[in-house]
Amino acid sequence: MTDAKGMAVPEIAREFFGVQLHYACVLSAKAGMPLAEAITFHTNFHRLFAYGNLGKMTPDPEFVVLVRDVVALSAEMRLDHLIAAYAERAADPWPPERFPFGNHFACEAPNEAGIVRIHFRNRFNTDAHGPLHASNVAQRRADLTAMFAFVADRWPDATAINGASWLYNMEAYRRLFPADYGASRKPMIGPRSMHGLSTWGQFLEFRGRAKPEIVERFKRGLDALDVTQPWLSFPYQVLATTAPLTSFQREYGV
Ligand SMILES: CC(C)(COP(=O)(O)OP(=O)(O)OC[C@H]1O[C@@H](n2cnc3c(N)ncnc32)[C@H](O)[C@@H]1OP(=O)(O)O)[C@@H](O)C(=O)NCCC(=O)NCCS
Repeated sequence: MTDAKGMAVPEIAREFFGVQLHYACVLSAKAGMPLAEAITFHTNFHRLFAYGNLGKMTPDPEFVVLVRDVVALSAEMRLDHLIAAYAERAADPWPPERFPFGNHFACEAPNEAGIVRIHFRNRFNTDAHGPLHASNVAQRRADLTAMFAFVADRWPDATAINGASWLYNMEAYRRLFPADYGASRKPMIGPRSMHGLSTWGQFLEFRGRAKPEIVERFKRGLDALDVTQPWLSFPYQVLATTAPLTSFQREYGV
């Protein structure tokens, strides 16, 4: 896999991997937590390397070995080892319980309360513009129209649509949705796992490179990392959103 300039995708990810490794080291030192635990449970690597969601499984034995090997290396060698290991892995697919629409959106089936959770993703992308760029608004809204037509048809009793992501900090994302859904956004508080792109995605630009200014801002703030509330050290908080399905039916005419 290569980008538009022919650079191997794992190499593009170097700064993104680097910032996560750096965070794991700081967290490990400040919290007195084994580095292997910090890398496993507090970075996005397990999912990114297509081993699955640690919210729903224990760490994959192969990944445990990889982390053990990484920790055993000198600090300068760790990133190279991770990038080489990543080059051997297949791309991570959408989890099987999600229903994808277009290249970027997916929804889950309603939970017991009738709530449908929605998701956004973007993988190494060589398009001229990113998926949230103004020139792509019509296409993204077409994707969402198809997704909510499906939801309304398949689960007419669904009550609400929920999201949770750093993405809701951006008007460029909120503009794709009904106004009441965007306006409902509230920072998530309380202890939780932070191994998803709902947190780590904020460091990426659409071609898969890290955004240097966001990485630098984050690294500077880590001096003051509060290990009881580590999420507060991230430039963007994860915001939770909700609105009734009827708002989406009105918005997209489905
Ligand atoms: C979301 C993602 C594609 C944004 O990358 P990008 O390079 O900024 O991409 P786009 O070109 O698509 O978006 C550009 C738009 O977003 C806005 N934007 C991007 N980053 C922003 C930021 N940090 N603050 C405010 N606006 C921002 C830009 O102003 C622009 O809007 P405009 O067209 O109105 O000017 C990228 O972060 C990514 O791939 N993340 C990984 C996926 C992810 O985060 N998933 C979350 C799962 S819950």
